[in-house]
Amino acid sequence: MNETLKTIAERYSCRDFTGTPLGGADVKVLAEAALASPSAMNRQPWQVIVITDKTLIDEIDAEGMKLLAAADDKSTYERMMSRGGKLFYNAPCMIIAAMDGSNSAAMDCGILSQNVALAAHSLGLGSVICGMAGIPLSGPKASDLKKRLKFPDGYDFGIAVLVGAAESGKEPHELDMTKVTYIGG
Ligand SMILES: Cc1cc2nc3c(=O)[nH]c(=O)nc-3n(C[C@H](O)[C@H](O)[C@H](O)COP(=O)(O)O)c2cc1C
Repeated sequence: MNETLKTIAERYSCRDFTGTPLGGADVKVLAEAALASPSAMNRQPWQVIVITDKTLIDEIDAEGMKLLAAADDKSTYERMMSRGGKLFYNAPCMIIAAMDGSNSAAMDCGILSQNVALAAHSLGLGSVICGMAGIPLSGPKASDLKKRLKFPDGYDFGIAVLVGAAESGKEPHELDMTKVTYIGG
């Protein structure tokens, strides 16, 4: 298996980070991996927001947990509490793809998130794509947070990826070969 296939096969969602800050060189590699992503008609409908201010990450985390705790359906809150009570698992770096309103922007940002996750794994770092980062960014503090995170006007949350050294890991999920249909030879 070549290195690229090995990285794809070994990547897993890390939900337990040490919190140790990332080196500047790693942060740059991750930002470049994000920007190298393909997008429909090469529109690059994103602004890549790289947050390494752990205090701010923790503040957004706490706001998200507060919103989950106040929700009618407590199941997500309870799931997060069973995972340690942190929406962002103590990650020292969060990369947000903010998206414009163009067609395919959400899909493009999803592809970008996988580029970041694979790049992180190739650097020996843990990562998890985090849709739930959208919770605090669509709640009552959304406009204040988006301003502090320098979202361009008219851009919304697309997806986020949490990255950092893994405190503990897990096995990649098993491949479900029934999800493949082969037509032809
Ligand atoms: C679009 C998207 C959003 C996700 N959002 C979250 C999230 O908010 N929190 C989380 O812990 N994992 C999140 N995940 C990770 C998935 O739960 C994970 O990929 C899945 O369980 C398979 O596990 P694996 O990544 O270890 O193979 C997300 C994944 C994707 C693709």
